[in-house]
Amino acid sequence: MGIGGSDMYRQQILDHYKNPRNHGEIEDPTFTHVGENPMCGDTIEMDVVLDESEETIEHVAFRGDGCAISQASASMLSEKLQGTTVEELQAMDRDDVVDMLGVDISPMRIKCAVLAEKVAQDGAEIYFGEKDLDMTSTEE
Ligand code: FES
Repeated sequence: MGIGGSDMYRQQILDHYKNPRNHGEIEDPTFTHVGENPMCGDTIEMDVVLDESEETIEHVAFRGDGCAISQASASMLSEKLQGTTVEELQAMDRDDVVDMLGVDISPMRIKCAVLAEKVAQDGAEIYFGEKDLDMTSTEE
């Protein structure tokens, strides 16, 4: 797979790849976003449900197509994000993703590892960006 690290973490990644958590769709999510790794064409699509105050992530579901690292990372992230605030999500960086995976990721594979995180962050950014636009364009 092109990753180093302890066997335990490698096993965990394979397990998430073979039995992805929160795999599928959520009906009526707060927002949905799809992203692609342009290097290989692999995709992740993520549905996110926020709580009423729109501060905390309640549920995440994803589907996608791609290598073990991108899909396992999406699966792990889908668990990690439940109960996380949008602010915490937006503050995540690649080091957090590498920590979550628990293995060394080669520079070649880092895009695979962070694909899901990017999708979640971009989805939130677009959602809140459009909301701001809505609020400034309507005079209610
Ligand atoms: Fe495509 Fe990993 S090879 S995301």
